[in-house]
Amino acid sequence: MSTFPAVKITDNIYWVGAIDWTIRDFHGYRTGRGSTYNAYLVCADRITLIDTVKKPFCSEMMARIASVIDPERIDSIVSNHSEMDHSGGLPEVIAAVKPERVYASVMGQKALNEHFGIGNLIHVVKSGDRIDLGSMTLEFLETRMLHWPDSMFTYCTEEKVLFSQDAFGMHLATAERFADEIDPSILAYEAATYYANILLPYSKLITKLAETLSQSTWKPAIIAPDHGPVWRKDLGTIIGRYTEWALQRSSRKAVIVYDTMWHSTEQMARAIAEGTASRGVDVKIMPASLVHRSDVAYEILDAGALLAGSPTLNNNLFPSMADVLTYLKGLQPQNLIGAAFGSYGWSGESVKQVEEMLAAMKVSLVAESLACLYAPDQNMLEKCFSLGVAVGDELIKRCDA
Ligand code: FEO
Repeated sequence: MSTFPAVKITDNIYWVGAIDWTIRDFHGYRTGRGSTYNAYLVCADRITLIDTVKKPFCSEMMARIASVIDPERIDSIVSNHSEMDHSGGLPEVIAAVKPERVYASVMGQKALNEHFGIGNLIHVVKSGDRIDLGSMTLEFLETRMLHWPDSMFTYCTEEKVLFSQDAFGMHLATAERFADEIDPSILAYEAATYYANILLPYSKLITKLAETLSQSTWKPAIIAPDHGPVWRKDLGTIIGRYTEWALQRSSRKAVIVYDTMWHSTEQMARAIAEGTASRGVDVKIMPASLVHRSDVAYEILDAGALLAGSPTLNNNLFPSMADVLTYLKGLQPQNLIGAAFGSYGWSGESVKQVEEMLAAMKVSLVAESLACLYAPDQNMLEKCFSLGVAVGDELIKRCDA
């Protein structure tokens, strides 16, 4: 009996991945519920493994494969994505099973060779290519930059399974393998957090991909991503969420992220929040030293406004604000309005630096920034409240337009 059994997802396809219960950081994104690295065994006449797992989990994957077949019977491997969480185990698998071919996109070939020097074993496939496995067929669609330049989807025509690598995934370690076995509120939260922290910069590509899939002959009954659970019911829900997130429409929600040294910037943030909320806008106040950058990214996903405040520390932004704003800038959120604010003692560079970071994110500033010397008096707090009102009014105007 295998202590790491495979899980059947169709008559001839098995999940043979690994569960990472303890990972809490995925290149800067806090993964509070762990993750999975999914690999799939397609048991056609010519047996094919779709993706592998992160290197330390290779023995777990091999044990799951061995619970179905002798791993040496694997004829080929498809590498849908060359990032290390899916290819780290590839050299070990190649050494163990000696496949005839590894299929990858042209950029996948480049990345895998640069990482591992796999050489002639790699056979390049492109969008529209098909490979005949005897009793089954695999088709390919390149999905460049979703998530890396090498990324591609693979579709099993006969079993109607779409292997979507990072797309439609989430960082969620569970004993259950299917989404319909998991609390929907956890799925909704983790799918949104994953989109916000991994896929947000590629939203325009996701819109195009959704169009491509809707016009394709592919009619998946199952979506099998490389992280988190497999989708076998109500696929329209997760596809619809991606379509909606990718549009990044403004909503009546403002995120105020700030940090504070002696509570001055904090008082400003609270007065701004009161002003914004007074217009009927949902406000999330996020003290940067008390929340994680990936939580801010999650809240930004459906927000229409980003307001950022920082005290000046040694002529600079407060470190926690530099962290969160740098992270958000990389995620390239779209269609945001906002404002900058902060306190200072003498030099006061931080507010200008917050403005520059917001400008780099193309956040449209609603009003003049507020810089407060030492501690806000009543006059300054009223200015903060008015700034909040201005942001709220502009947001409502945009949402109603
Ligand atoms: Fe799950 Fe882009 O790697």
